[in-house]
Amino acid sequence: MERIDGAVAFITGGASGMGLGMARVFSRAGMRVVIADIRQEAIDVALAQFPPDNAGVLGVQLDVADRAAYVRAADAAEARFGKIHILVNNAGVGIVGPLLTATYADWDWGLAVNLGGVINGIQTILPRIRRHGEPGHIVTTASMSGIFAAGLAGIYTTAKYAVVGLMESLRPELEPLAIGVSAFCPGLVDTNIGDVEKLRPSEYRDSTYTNVSLERAAFMREKIFPHGMAPLEVGERVLQGILRNDMWILTHSEYREGAEQRFEAILASFPTDPAPLARVGAEAMVVRNPMFVRERERRMAQRAAT
Ligand code: NAI
Repeated sequence: MERIDGAVAFITGGASGMGLGMARVFSRAGMRVVIADIRQEAIDVALAQFPPDNAGVLGVQLDVADRAAYVRAADAAEARFGKIHILVNNAGVGIVGPLLTATYADWDWGLAVNLGGVINGIQTILPRIRRHGEPGHIVTTASMSGIFAAGLAGIYTTAKYAVVGLMESLRPELEPLAIGVSAFCPGLVDTNIGDVEKLRPSEYRDSTYTNVSLERAAFMREKIFPHGMAPLEVGERVLQGILRNDMWILTHSEYREGAEQRFEAILASFPTDPAPLARVGAEAMVVRNPMFVRERERRMAQRAAT
């Protein structure tokens, strides 16, 4: 999207942290924004950060894991603004703990929100973007945990890898429809994600993670997250990524080495003998993806121009 003035952005997890940062930046840039969040009280606090007469902001309560509720939230957004142009699949829970002690409740909750919520967003909102035919964009907040695994966060990492794969798969399908697609992969950002256990629904309470997470929450809030990037800066970077239609919106240069180590290790794991398909003369079936080559060239040209 090259013009975003007047466009409508539907932001899940929009009442806190980087979702709210994006909502504020997008609104200042002339967009209308829908703040969709599971917590009505947080929506109320968030709305107070916008000018009192700001008719361009709508709060809707939504659990992204609830498909029927998602349809109602999208209906409410369209009833207010007519169209949705930008979907930001940002709602997420920072479920952290060793896989060795994970319960099914941990898996079900972590995947229902961090992966299922993204799928539900695409299934609900994408047909509505297509219907009006104007340019659009889908951004999903993954994480550096969607680029390389680190720390005891296996469930989180599983979901974040999945949504990066989802965005890379969706992008070429939507390119001819003038709908951009980005995987947003931030590093540490100063948000409330450390208070994750407060959000755990009762049906997922069978967990060994809960007590440890609750004990760590104050430490994370006071000592770790304040070192993270500010949500408003994140919002600016995501806006720039939408305007440029970047495939990956990356915000933290300090994680480059970790990514490099993973990519290099994968490349070093390929066998060096001729591929079986090439051996039988079926080179055309060897899988490549020119989309990545084009994106690399585009980003290198951008870098050279700045
Ligand atoms: P946050 O906790 O400040 O904001 C997340 C918002 O999502 C909250 O307002 C929460 O109520 C909402 N939410 C949670 N479950 C929901 C559900 N089922 N339906 C609708 N809304 C729901 O945290 P933050 O950091 O702003 O999180 C946003 C995204 O950023 C998440 O996807 C997270 O995984 C990701 N992320 C966060 C990083 C960080 O350092 N804070 C780093 C990398 C990625």
